[in-house]
Amino acid sequence: MANKKVNVGLIGLNGMGKGHLHDLQEMDTVVLAGVCDIVKEYADAVASACNTRAYYDYREMLDRAGLDAVIIAVPHYDHPQIAIDAFERGIHVMTEKPIAVHVNDAKRMIEAYDRAKQLAPELQFGIMFQERTFPYYRKIKEILDSGELGRLTRATWIHTEWFRSQAYYDSGDWRATWAGEGGGILTNQCPHTLDMYQWLLGVPARITGHAHIGKYHDIEVEDEVTAYFEHENGMIGHLIVTTAELPGTNRLEIIGENGKLVYEDHKLVLHKNKMSMLQYSRETSERFGNMGQEQIEIAVDTETPVGHHVVSEKFFERIRTGQGELIAEGTEGIRSLTIANGIMLSSFQKRTVDVPIDGDAFEAKLQELIRTSRYVKKAAVIPPIHEDFSKSFGTKL
Ligand SMILES: NC(=O)c1ccc[n+]([C@@H]2O[C@H](COP(=O)([O-])OP(=O)(O)OC[C@H]3O[C@@H](n4cnc5c(N)ncnc54)[C@H](O)[C@@H]3O)[C@@H](O)[C@H]2O)c1
Repeated sequence: MANKKVNVGLIGLNGMGKGHLHDLQEMDTVVLAGVCDIVKEYADAVASACNTRAYYDYREMLDRAGLDAVIIAVPHYDHPQIAIDAFERGIHVMTEKPIAVHVNDAKRMIEAYDRAKQLAPELQFGIMFQERTFPYYRKIKEILDSGELGRLTRATWIHTEWFRSQAYYDSGDWRATWAGEGGGILTNQCPHTLDMYQWLLGVPARITGHAHIGKYHDIEVEDEVTAYFEHENGMIGHLIVTTAELPGTNRLEIIGENGKLVYEDHKLVLHKNKMSMLQYSRETSERFGNMGQEQIEIAVDTETPVGHHVVSEKFFERIRTGQGELIAEGTEGIRSLTIANGIMLSSFQKRTVDVPIDGDAFEAKLQELIRTSRYVKKAAVIPPIHEDFSKSFGTKL
């Protein structure tokens, strides 16, 4: 469909949906062919401001709006079914993260995509992992892919810049409940961190997780997690995340035989060994020696545009031309979800779990948590939808 504008429908018009609307507004390669929210007043407000049609049931929009593509920005449990329904109608999908709440659902989604692609090989499935556009992470990936660090031995990521207040958790009745969200920090905030971990370093072969449930917030899901990863190549990994630290930290150390890469405070430093640590260890006669290091601050291009709109633009570009980088293939979403589910399963079962994880065991545990939940959520304080959408988004759509 080269040169043709993409008819796009947006499902979910509150928090993240507003961001998507804003991005769509900036693009001249798309037409907003319909918007959908189960809250009628949201759908009506956005539709009238953007001069498009409102739908309150996404299936109706998929059937009637003449869509080429759909963006899914609703709470996570609904991502799989909406995507499956879109694929069955030959509609391209960009889903918000996480791909799903549990790996069984993600597999159903991927199977539906594979089936649909047999009929329409050009069908695209993207997932919003906008952090893959971030320049420091891209540079780290470039260095790792070049093999400069040699054999990797350890990666440690302290990522606690995910502070969330009680007011945040109270701002939606689905948030931070087993039935509404299916998890806490690993399901909502850390899909980005986990995707980046697997993008840079791969999915671990074994996972040991320790998750604290509602430790600092009145919620029934995890808000503090420490995990230990073992990779097939012998590398070990650590992940420390929480929504209850101020100030937060984002420090990633990746160590290989040839040195250490450290990212923190928007600075990337390579501590480069004068020779391989493994070779030095084998060959030196020094008992407590060190071959010495060179410290190099890595230059990073921070001028290139990044973020959600870049991911969306590339998604639409791929649909229109069949070319270009899709920042994150939707099917890759199962990798971060595997790590998230694996950490929780390990924590619940108090043992190390192997990857691929037992998806049935995780789903059964989730169902049990939903069934036995005694958690009573305070009345949700839902932020009002933006009063005047035309001011924010204009009528360009
Ligand atoms: N990529 C990112 O950085 C990022 C940031 C924030 C949120 N998200 C993701 O976006 C999704 C939505 O989160 P949010 O914070 O915008 O939630 P939200 O509660 O603010 O908004 C969700 C909207 O979806 C609507 N909705 C719910 N079920 C629906 C359905 N079946 N059909 C149509 N509309 C429906 C709700 O009425 C609401 O307006 C989540 O999966 C979240 O993980 C991603």
